[in-house]
Amino acid sequence: MDFQLKGRVAAITGASSGLGRRFALKLSEEGAAVAVMARRTDRLEALVEEIRAKGGKAMTCALDVSQTADIGPALDQVEAELGPLSIMINNAGVGGDGMALEMSQEHFDNTFNVNVRGVYFGAAEAARRMLKNGQAEAGNARIINIASIAAFTQLPALSAYCASKAAVVSMTKALAREWAKRLISVNAICPGYIETEINADWFATEGGQRQIQTFPRRRLMDEDGLDAALLMLAGAPGRQITGSAFTLDDGQLL
Ligand SMILES: NC(=O)c1ccc[n+]([C@@H]2O[C@H](COP(=O)([O-])OP(=O)(O)OC[C@H]3O[C@@H](n4cnc5c(N)ncnc54)[C@H](OP(=O)(O)O)[C@@H]3O)[C@@H](O)[C@H]2O)c1
Repeated sequence: MDFQLKGRVAAITGASSGLGRRFALKLSEEGAAVAVMARRTDRLEALVEEIRAKGGKAMTCALDVSQTADIGPALDQVEAELGPLSIMINNAGVGGDGMALEMSQEHFDNTFNVNVRGVYFGAAEAARRMLKNGQAEAGNARIINIASIAAFTQLPALSAYCASKAAVVSMTKALAREWAKRLISVNAICPGYIETEINADWFATEGGQRQIQTFPRRRLMDEDGLDAALLMLAGAPGRQITGSAFTLDDGQLL
């Protein structure tokens, strides 16, 4: 299938590891120019090298999404180097674990600063540019927020994380409604568990292994489990999809 991503410009937050890195590679394989964003720029540079070696177009952009005033200038840098932004993947996230009675205000605030404020202002700054650069009018404007199955359930010792991801689903629908007429599509992907740095330590424990046995298929998802949804939402098939939250979890929530 041709997703018609050739020549499109995508920015991906949290691209220094895990899902964000995968999203950058997949979009690039389909012909998009990608700006990979995160704090660990050494990793981003290695990823950019990898993409360029395969013939893709990519750039590194240092960004701490909790510093929301930095998001707009970072996206300006992306447009100056790669061209008009039309795909924004708000993927950066932190685990925000801990029992409520022991939760420090700093830990809670960091969870919400990255997972909620970072996504909200990432979406708004991207939308502003997509309206100005003509990509919205052309029907290309896609914002994809990475939520989680945690948005729909109550996971032990993850109250702040669950609340932050429920906020992502809620804001996705609200922003999709607000920008529907202006042709900016906003959707969320809500993944089940895929082993990455965010959870690898947990799944190496006995408790983590027991949790896997509670999933109907008794397994974690493979790293390619979100590829099809990503390309659909970013590409031509996503033209009439907005305000949706796609749960992709190999049945883990069932
Ligand atoms: N893996 C799963 O099972 C799973 C399931 C559901 C949802 N998710 C969600 O998927 C997203 C990606 O997670 P992952 O599994 O790929 O975890 P990961 O491997 O730990 O990656 C997290 C990414 O977020 C970035 N990040 C963290 N704080 C940041 C900040 N303040 N500013 C900019 N970037 C920041 C990290 O980059 P730097 O540290 O270099 O800045 C890293 O690239 C998260 O939103 C997570 O909640 C994951």
